Amino acid sequence: MSAVLTRRFADRQTAVRALAAEFQELIEARNQAGQSTVLGLATGSTPIPFYQELVRLHRQQGLSFARVITFNLDEYGGLPPDHPESYWHFMQQHLFQHIDIDPQNIHLPSGTVAEAEIDQHCAAYEDAIRAAGGIDYQILGIGRTGHIGFNEPPSRGDSRTRRVELDEITRGDAAPAFGGLEAVPSWAITMGVGTILDARRIALMAFGEAKADIVRRAIEEPVNDRVTASFLQTHPMAQFLLDPEAASALTR
Ligand code: GLP
Repeated sequence: MSAVLTRRFADRQTAVRALAAEFQELIEARNQAGQSTVLGLATGSTPIPFYQELVRLHRQQGLSFARVITFNLDEYGGLPPDHPESYWHFMQQHLFQHIDIDPQNIHLPSGTVAEAEIDQHCAAYEDAIRAAGGIDYQILGIGRTGHIGFNEPPSRGDSRTRRVELDEITRGDAAPAFGGLEAVPSWAITMGVGTILDARRIALMAFGEAKADIVRRAIEEPVNDRVTASFLQTHPMAQFLLDPEAASALTR
């Protein structure tokens, strides 16, 4: 029996509002105490409305990100920051350029680090997360291969930040945005499953019918390295936020 908290919402807007309210509460408490908040951030279409809600809270309710430190899950191999499909560019466009975050507090793996330096770069990313005090709250989407970050199957539960080869399903899903499969990078740098599980709280958002089957496997199958999101079942403070379509294949 899986222990992971599963929350079904009337629609994705209600789900992202509930999650953003949790983030607001955390950030405001830390701000008042003069402390930083360390957020683990994700890309993909799923978190876009969540970022829109954070921007709204910043603009309309004065939520300040001046003390927030962020670590993104992953970056495509070979893409410079200014590439329109880089995750660096995505984060600027959907969140960072709209809030008062200090650019020095933003961290993403580099897609253009020299081949010989990738291991060192990944170790330094882990060190930076630890030096910041660890991730307070990590958000996730889920790929159709069951990956979190870019932890393609099979990924071990104790894997750390590293280079991974992308699954053909994942590359196919990204192809329209890149204008064709040939343009989609074949590899990425991603936080490991173990890196993600070290976060004190975790929220995975999944919306839409296309995610229904993999959401069911992540929640209802025994923990296994073929569906890396299933490792969230082992975390004491992880939750899945679903809309009715993404929850439609759950059997319990
Ligand atoms: C990519 C990202 C994942 C994301 C997944 C699903 O593979 N690396 O972090 O969860 O896409 O994307 P979407 O939310 O667009 O379905």
